[in-house]
Amino acid sequence: MGSGEGRIVRKSPAEIDKMRRSGHIVRQVLDRVKSLVAPGATTMDLEKAAEKLIADLGATPAFKGYYDYPCVLCTSVNEEIVHGIPSEKRVLKAGDIVSIDCGAVFDGYYGDAAITVPVGDALAPEVKKLLDVTEASLYKGIEQARIGNTIGHVGSAIQKHVEAAGFSIVRDFVGHGIGTKLHEPPQIPNFGKKGQGAELSEGMVLAIEPMVNSGGPDAKVLSDKWTAVTVDGSYSAHFEHCVAVTKQGPVILTN
Ligand code: MF3
Ligand code: CO
Repeated sequence: MGSGEGRIVRKSPAEIDKMRRSGHIVRQVLDRVKSLVAPGATTMDLEKAAEKLIADLGATPAFKGYYDYPCVLCTSVNEEIVHGIPSEKRVLKAGDIVSIDCGAVFDGYYGDAAITVPVGDALAPEVKKLLDVTEASLYKGIEQARIGNTIGHVGSAIQKHVEAAGFSIVRDFVGHGIGTKLHEPPQIPNFGKKGQGAELSEGMVLAIEPMVNSGGPDAKVLSDKWTAVTVDGSYSAHFEHCVAVTKQGPVILTN
């Protein structure tokens, strides 16, 4: 969301190293939060743990206060696509899926990543497939984040993988550049054609984040002004990594 226009800021190897540090902080938070996902936990339990760990790691949350967003995590359950707001009223139950999206700033540089995890261990096969296909599509996109390719190479690879599996790509939300701001140009749609959009060059850092619905692609935002849900009520999954475009190929910073 936001800041899709303007100049793409490329990062030096030293800046990319800093982004690896913020990326690693985000990954530690996601790992911790994932371990707490269980039937009976609330999405506010996840938020509280994330807020404490970000502080303990000496970082600052990236989302809290961003356009007045109230939390450090987005927790999006089942038909919620992205930007679900943690709540002590939202109790996770077996068979749910929950997308956990976290951003952090460390030493002036942002990290941003998301995973979608099952609640309990009895996931419906179609829902398990949704998670697997969405995560695999992220890696298909990452693989295209190469010098000389375009933004369209990334989106096209994601779209092909998702649609071949019979799922649909959300159009209303896209990935983004990232660096000293959470959202920098360019926008990175999870659809498109090779050759479309900006050409990728050394030092660009991309937050690639496919959002995939098991039903139709349409999304709407609830009256809380944040939570995006599928219009048809179908389940939605979301995975995100920050990736640097380097001479050595794509480098994932959020590991
Ligand atoms: N990963 C999401 C994004 O990059 C999260 C933004 S939530 C917000 O757009 F609260 F910060 F807006
Ligand atoms: Co993002």
